[in-house]
Amino acid sequence: MSSASQKALLIPSKGAEFEVGTRSIPKPGPGEVLVKLHAAALNPLDNIMQKYGLFIESYPAVPGNDGAGTVEELGEGVIGLQKGDRVARGPLTAIPSKYSFDEAATIPLGFATAALGLYDKRGKHGRVNLPSVWSAAGGAELPTPWSAAGRDKYKGHPAVITGGASSVGQFVIQLAKLSGFGPIITTASSRNAEYAKAAGATHVIDYNTTSYADLPAAVAKITSTPVPLIYDVIASPESQKASWAILAPKGTLVVSHDPVVGKLGEEAEDSKRVELVWGSTTDSDWHEIGNDIWAHLTGLLETGAVKPNKVEVLPDGLAGIPAGVERVGQGKVSGVKLVAHPQETA
Ligand SMILES: NC(=O)c1ccc[n+]([C@@H]2O[C@H](COP(=O)([O-])OP(=O)(O)OC[C@H]3O[C@@H](n4cnc5c(N)ncnc54)[C@H](OP(=O)(O)O)[C@@H]3O)[C@@H](O)[C@H]2O)c1
Repeated sequence: MSSASQKALLIPSKGAEFEVGTRSIPKPGPGEVLVKLHAAALNPLDNIMQKYGLFIESYPAVPGNDGAGTVEELGEGVIGLQKGDRVARGPLTAIPSKYSFDEAATIPLGFATAALGLYDKRGKHGRVNLPSVWSAAGGAELPTPWSAAGRDKYKGHPAVITGGASSVGQFVIQLAKLSGFGPIITTASSRNAEYAKAAGATHVIDYNTTSYADLPAAVAKITSTPVPLIYDVIASPESQKASWAILAPKGTLVVSHDPVVGKLGEEAEDSKRVELVWGSTTDSDWHEIGNDIWAHLTGLLETGAVKPNKVEVLPDGLAGIPAGVERVGQGKVSGVKLVAHPQETA
């Protein structure tokens, strides 16, 4: 391998198996930064990209949405960063020294999805040129908890968040706590109840023993106060129907997959809304909210208000990633984020 090339995990063509190959090391252009990755985290999206080619424009493609490392080279006009700085993707958030690269790599996509679902403006069709339902993506439009208007604003109001042991669910719970919501009710396997509570959940319902059809009754036993916010991270048809039944009039249900309830981007008869989150800030419609979110993330990490996910490190560098992506796709990851070390590739 020449000094200007590096090993990379490639998807050779649509639906093909991953391959470890070689790519040239890019030169950062104006406003860009070259980052040497120390840790890359896996997401359900990686599995969807490999299998169906979603969001891939050309092959061979290099997958991956989350990473952390050190700044290697600065492109022209970059300010505020220096060679050697520890950063996480999204976009280049400085990592407080108390967190490892592994921990930092767990944050970007999960945190962006959590924050955008809560604070993004309400969706409307044709917002940007994204395919299908995504053009109507939006959020609950809550005031951010780092603004004076938002911190603790929802004291006394319950929130329901499905998937409290998932990467996104962990961050939604932490942010809902900052907004003052309580009780915070979540669903997770019993073995992950403490993990969900450490993020800020007050009540954990085991979805393996209480089906989503029974969730409304289980929530009613915990609180009789109307529930104005539900973030359905899992967004299965069953969890969406349960969430819609629990949601108070004028409340907002945020879903991470195509809605099967309500009318996307419109109020339903009882003024309930469903919003489909778009967990990326790279498109122009999301720059303003993205800048606000990323500007506050380092501070939230420093105070411990936001904590990274639990980590499981995969063996064998890039070669260990395909089995990990398969596990994520099969729903065989529980209460951890899988992280790989590309530099450990044989
Ligand atoms: N719209 C977007 O832009 C966007 C962005 C990112 C992610 N997503 C989607 O959001 C979802 C979560 O992503 P993630 O990265 O957070 O996933 P993840 O961390 O890989 O999720 C794994 C966790 O899901 C939990 N889980 C599985 N089925 C569940 C159920 N029926 N009820 C409650 N919990 C359940 C498991 O909990 P236990 O181990 O406790 O059983 C497990 O810990 C995925 O479907 C993903 O595709 C969408």
